[in-house]
Amino acid sequence: MREESPETHAEKLAQLQELRDQAIHSASAEAVDKQHAKGKLTARERIEKLLDPGSFEELDTFVRHRTHEFEMDKRRPYGDAVVTGYGTIDGRTVFVFSQDFTVFGGSLGEVMAEKMVKVMDLAAKVGAPVIGINDSGGARIQEGVVSLGAYGDVFVRNVQCSGVIPQISLIMGPCAGGAVYSPAMTDFIFMVKETSHMFITGPEVIKTVTGEEVEFEELGGAMSHNSKSGVAHFAADDEEQCLQDARYLISFLPSNNLELPPRVEPTDDPDREDPELDSLVPDDPQKPYDMRDVISRIVDDGEFFEVHEHFAQNIVCGFSRLDGRPIGVVGNQPKHLAGVLDIESSEKAARFVRTCDAFNVPLLTFTDVPGFMPGTSQEWGGIIRHGAKLLYAFTEATVPKLTVVTRKAYGGAYDVMNSKHMLADFNFAWPTAEVAVMGPEGAVNIIYRRDIASSPTPDERRGKLVADYKTHFANPYSAAERGYIDDVIVPRQTRPKLIRALRTLQNKRVEQPKRKHGNIPL
Ligand code: HXC
Repeated sequence: MREESPETHAEKLAQLQELRDQAIHSASAEAVDKQHAKGKLTARERIEKLLDPGSFEELDTFVRHRTHEFEMDKRRPYGDAVVTGYGTIDGRTVFVFSQDFTVFGGSLGEVMAEKMVKVMDLAAKVGAPVIGINDSGGARIQEGVVSLGAYGDVFVRNVQCSGVIPQISLIMGPCAGGAVYSPAMTDFIFMVKETSHMFITGPEVIKTVTGEEVEFEELGGAMSHNSKSGVAHFAADDEEQCLQDARYLISFLPSNNLELPPRVEPTDDPDREDPELDSLVPDDPQKPYDMRDVISRIVDDGEFFEVHEHFAQNIVCGFSRLDGRPIGVVGNQPKHLAGVLDIESSEKAARFVRTCDAFNVPLLTFTDVPGFMPGTSQEWGGIIRHGAKLLYAFTEATVPKLTVVTRKAYGGAYDVMNSKHMLADFNFAWPTAEVAVMGPEGAVNIIYRRDIASSPTPDERRGKLVADYKTHFANPYSAAERGYIDDVIVPRQTRPKLIRALRTLQNKRVEQPKRKHGNIPL
């Protein structure tokens, strides 16, 4: 800063400009080059690409840390290690914080947390999403326990904002130790392949404690967290794609829990029929097909933004639109493990259902489920409590709820998958649907075991009993007879049917019981 204090208006304006320049260029050219060399953008470049051009309004540009220990008073850059403010995405307000790795390695101390907390509080006050760009060495070592307390302040905001405003985390560098728990409590986590890493303990500590050797990318890279742990929901090839994906996600979400998600002018005919749907489900009930084909033929313009694409692929979840209105789609995926429900798919879908419900996004479920996955690893892993999460989440959801049974809806999994019994609003079935306690072969082997064993021609006898069972149960009509299925529909007409149902449900109202909160089995 200049030595003498400015006196004239012109000098004061010049001083302001000078200080602002200092804040914007607080990083050394060397640090910026290092960032670029890794394939990473700087904190400000990321904000520019995330928001509508020229819409960013920065806050707290002149904030500086107050630490004296470790000669920190010799380096007090304006803005500290985070850039914060607000701007727009497609004209809608969002708040942003973008950690700046070029300043103290993006490490978080007292004033950095104060800046982040300020935008989170503002976002909650005005009802707008918060997008946090994470690129940080974690707790600022020089500030000691103060930085741990500062993380605590951020965690508190994450919890307070949960279910009130969308919170989105973009991991664009290191995010280690307890620092991971802030993104972990947000609604969606994006990661970038090769350049972003999340872990509680890094490779060095793991090697010391357990002897296990593992590299950064395998331990906590984008694909590990997208396909193995399920911690992250999206994996981008590079930062540009990640920022564009985040913009796209915002288009499906309301700004807060009191608003409906934004409707776009539809370009797809609401009465469009798709004849291919009539034969999409194979005649052989054991033959797989891709539930994504069903979804894309029904929703507006085939647009489907998949969430958790690489995790628990036996269930698909994602955002779409029907007649311009955002919806959350959940579908069993016959292409993977025959679409069975297991621990991971139950957790994945339960989380998605609750996110949609929190933000007033109607739910559309496609059911083709043979049941829950058998086996000791599932039982000992807690399939009972994890499966219960999905049952609980669907039941608890009060948004408009639609279901289409395309083929199998067996056993408890039938109930779980947004059935009428779990308070779904409109339940349709295709003629190919089989709503039953279990598949024909399994059922006949149990209830006719003695009968088959005593038959002189057991295979023939079994065949006849299976055929009888199919006539009675392997169809949608015994469920439709009781009103559990509202209508058996011609597959090609699914889109117009769903759009009319969704329109009808626009003013759905549900009285909630008075209670602090339910106790979902976690
Ligand atoms: C202060 C830090 C820092 C930190 C990095 N820096 N981490 N300063 N506190 N936590 C500084 C470095 O001193 C360096 O400063 C600059 O940032 C860049 O760091 P480099 O090491 O040169 O970068 P790189 O080689 O890319 O390595 C990045 C890194 C590494 C992997 C993140 O810096 C690292 O391991 N940092 C420590 C990570 C860590 O253990 N953090 C604590 C986690 S526990 P100069 O001046 O040389 O440029 C935690 C608890 C949270 O966060 C608890 C919440 C409840």
